[in-house]
Amino acid sequence: MKKQLAALIFAILPVFTFAAGGHDVHLDKVDVDLSDKAAMQDGLRTFANYCMGCHSAQFQRYERVAKDLGIPEEVMLENVVLTGAKIGDHMKNGMHPADAKVWFGAAPPDLTLVARVRGNDWLYSYLRAFYEDPARPWGVNNKVFPNVGMPNVLGKLQGRQVVGCKQVQLVDDGKKQFDPLTGTPITHEACDQLTVLPNTGAQTEEQFDETVKNLVTFLAYSANPVKLESQRIGTYVLLYLAFFFVFAYLLKREYWKDVH
Ligand code: HEC
Repeated sequence: MKKQLAALIFAILPVFTFAAGGHDVHLDKVDVDLSDKAAMQDGLRTFANYCMGCHSAQFQRYERVAKDLGIPEEVMLENVVLTGAKIGDHMKNGMHPADAKVWFGAAPPDLTLVARVRGNDWLYSYLRAFYEDPARPWGVNNKVFPNVGMPNVLGKLQGRQVVGCKQVQLVDDGKKQFDPLTGTPITHEACDQLTVLPNTGAQTEEQFDETVKNLVTFLAYSANPVKLESQRIGTYVLLYLAFFFVFAYLLKREYWKDVH
């Protein structure tokens, strides 16, 4: 019995360490707004152009996405459906998992639900954490996902990111430190920092952060397309309950009027 218990504990242990994130990588926080259709449309465009060559979103149909994000069907077919699929089709791609495994060492997973598995902060950080590393097959590595098999597909937009030394603001006890006399930030040199080489990308750092944020917003929507709908219905349910309460209360008063 004891042996079985020990086996059980060891069997579920890795699940917990995975859920806890395992290693202590720093993740940047991102606030996604699932009612921002413009952001999700931009994210979908990036997804179709930069991700769907390798990844699918096969639990999602083009038609549903077009409807949810307010995109007319013709626009969707012309700009997003690059595989010749029909509007009612699932968002698959033509890549064969077995081939992909040979090319990349790992098959690119389906991304429909990835935001639920990894979390928004993880995705936002991961997509911005590729850096040049000549020792890796694609010449890039990743801070959040070490030795990843995926190439840096957004590199043209972000520019060349390297790991090096730079001045960063001192943080003590979770608070950014400022010089009490001059009010200027207190910095120190830290190595092992991600830095984008100036003027090497098509977008500025802020623009690139926005592009990735929009992409993550789309992936967050994709992982939970009914969320918007549930919030809307939830509001009606609460309104109905509040309304119903008034009548229930009046009825109760009526019933109990003559008791005592
Ligand atoms: C050239 C092919 C290719 C393209 C294009 C590509 N990826 Fe990947 N991606 C991969 C491969 C291969 C892996 C698996 C890496 C591994 O496990 O080492 C991967 C892994 C991932 C993962 C990690 C999934 C997980 O939970 O392990 C995410 C997230 C991801 N890709 C997102 C994206 C996004 C977003 C884009 C578009 C901006 C994109 N990828 C474009 C090949 C690609």
